[in-house]
Amino acid sequence: MKPVRVLAIETSCDETAAAVVDDGRHVRSSVVSSQVDLHARFGGVVPEVAGRAHLDLLTPVVEEALERAGTSGPELDVVAATIGPGLIGSLLVGTAAAKAYALAWGKPFVGVNHMEGHLHAAFLEDPDMALPAVVLLVSGGHTMLILMTRDGRYRLLGQTIDDAAGEAFDKVARFLGLGYPGGPAIDRVARDGDPAAVAFPRGLLHEGYDFSFSGLKTSVVNYVKKHPEVGVADVAASFQEAVVDVLVRKATRAAADVGARGICIGGGVAANSVLRERVQEACAAHGLAAFVPSRAMCTDNAAMVAATAWHRFRLDGPTPLDAAADPNLRL
Ligand code: KG4
Ligand code: ZN
Repeated sequence: MKPVRVLAIETSCDETAAAVVDDGRHVRSSVVSSQVDLHARFGGVVPEVAGRAHLDLLTPVVEEALERAGTSGPELDVVAATIGPGLIGSLLVGTAAAKAYALAWGKPFVGVNHMEGHLHAAFLEDPDMALPAVVLLVSGGHTMLILMTRDGRYRLLGQTIDDAAGEAFDKVARFLGLGYPGGPAIDRVARDGDPAAVAFPRGLLHEGYDFSFSGLKTSVVNYVKKHPEVGVADVAASFQEAVVDVLVRKATRAAADVGARGICIGGGVAANSVLRERVQEACAAHGLAAFVPSRAMCTDNAAMVAATAWHRFRLDGPTPLDAAADPNLRL
């Protein structure tokens, strides 16, 4: 049978991405153009700069995705885009473009929730993932613990009550003078540090499934001001240890409580080396399956959006063309 071919566009933050995926699982092409260099000198993503860069990059990125997949507009079955959450100026570029392509080629449009995209990323690489699974979604804007019961069905177990895990990485990295983006910088520097050097607090460790990282960030700042002699590597490693410890312990506890068969991670922070190792160790120790997608599938990309669009299209059909991009779209 002819596969259902989806072109998806992802422009929720600072990556301009497009991908062609067949039947929600066969990735024909996935192109990601990062704007990291553009924003680095400002120490973070500047929404206005991001929106304008998407405008310049989008057409070439889409054309490259189509070319690498050896396909063209008329051969597509669905055109999808991330419709939220994210930066409104950035979302508008991707959704407007996807709707225009859909209209021009006479194809249905599907608007995708970015976090649902992260949720589906693991499935792309491991379609036989055992369910139910507890999914730990950790990105720059979100930190969520989700129970996935079956294809396309999920329930939010808990989330951060203040900063997202990635936000904590970015803020602490900036404070330590490690630059932007902070997560990869801390990951790198922490390799030469002692994770037990400083016992930073583990927010809400024993309470429910919600997370809190703003107290940890403040502790790091206060500690460094008081102990300027302690090396950056030790502080970075100890901070990372505190974040990963809470994430993994809560996910493991949730998995036991709900009787999940495995733990899956997703979102940019899931690219963190220590988190990836710890999830695998915890799963091995508790007889759970570990689903740890490749790093490229953890950070923002359009293949995960295309895979999600395929699921949503099967379940709900197309999204009306007048559906608006929503910066605060909930899962
Ligand atoms: O999912 P993502 O690419 O974009 C959002 O949807 O937010 O996540 C970006 C976040 C940033 O906060 C970045 O610092 C963090 O993911 N991140 C990492 C690593 N790589 C990216 N955090 C920790 N360790 C990493 N290796
Ligand atoms: Zn993301």
